[in-house]
Amino acid sequence: MKTSTSLKEMKQRHEAITMITAYDYPSAKQAENAGVDMILVGDSLGMVVLGYDSTVPVTVDDMIHHGKAVVRGAKQTFVVIDMPFMSYHISPEETMKQAKRMIQETGAQAIKVEGAKEVITTIGKLTNAGIPVVAHLGLTPQSVQVLGGYRVQGKDKEAAQQLIDEALAVQASGAISLVLECVPAPLAKLIASRLDIPVIGIGAGEHCDGQVLVYHDVLQYGVERVPKFAKIYTNMNDVVHSALQQFVAEVKTKQFPTPSHSFTMKEEVISELYG
Ligand code: KIV
Ligand code: NA
Repeated sequence: MKTSTSLKEMKQRHEAITMITAYDYPSAKQAENAGVDMILVGDSLGMVVLGYDSTVPVTVDDMIHHGKAVVRGAKQTFVVIDMPFMSYHISPEETMKQAKRMIQETGAQAIKVEGAKEVITTIGKLTNAGIPVVAHLGLTPQSVQVLGGYRVQGKDKEAAQQLIDEALAVQASGAISLVLECVPAPLAKLIASRLDIPVIGIGAGEHCDGQVLVYHDVLQYGVERVPKFAKIYTNMNDVVHSALQQFVAEVKTKQFPTPSHSFTMKEEVISELYG
């Protein structure tokens, strides 16, 4: 099991950190067996598993339900769980209460929150309470309506400088790591070099300390299109489609089940039953 300390040491020795999302028992088990350093129970859950158009409808209860299954499937892996939309903005009391639930009820090692400004204070409070926090800057999908769409962040000098300042601020308030989403590679490189904590990129180029991708994008599983920054390593849609189509066809044509998939009983019982 990685720790915030061992993850920082990986950064220091330039060993790339791997992170992938998981949302249930099998995906968590597969991620752990593949040897990832960290698992993220992302609120991308809303889109890739629950079928919503964005991450906005996802609730704390949804996250906890799926987070528990992930932790059961990956007991040896550092699990980070997303605080969903508006669960850390209403009041400090509400934030602490929900964060406590997310950690205690799931058994995850850390939570992740999006954004800067007031969230920077929140990161400090959570850290003081003993909850490890991963920050998330750049494209922050919970604010997609404010950002005006899923687009690259920090492209001009002013926006880039702001992102650098925010990254330094989340580190200063105690974040153990930073997820940087959809920012130009040269900016991500600069931020990673300025910070001591590991910067895990998604659409942030090759110079981050680690990389995170969404499970369903990597496997092209249930998703048709994937973002430009994602790499598809296999096409599960095709694999699943042909397997399920074959099942349907074999049942229709009585090729399945065969005697090898069936149970029998003693001959004398059969003749008694049939009279
Ligand atoms: O919810 C998610 O999957 C994420 C990653 C894209 C970083 O936050
Ligand atoms: Na997320």
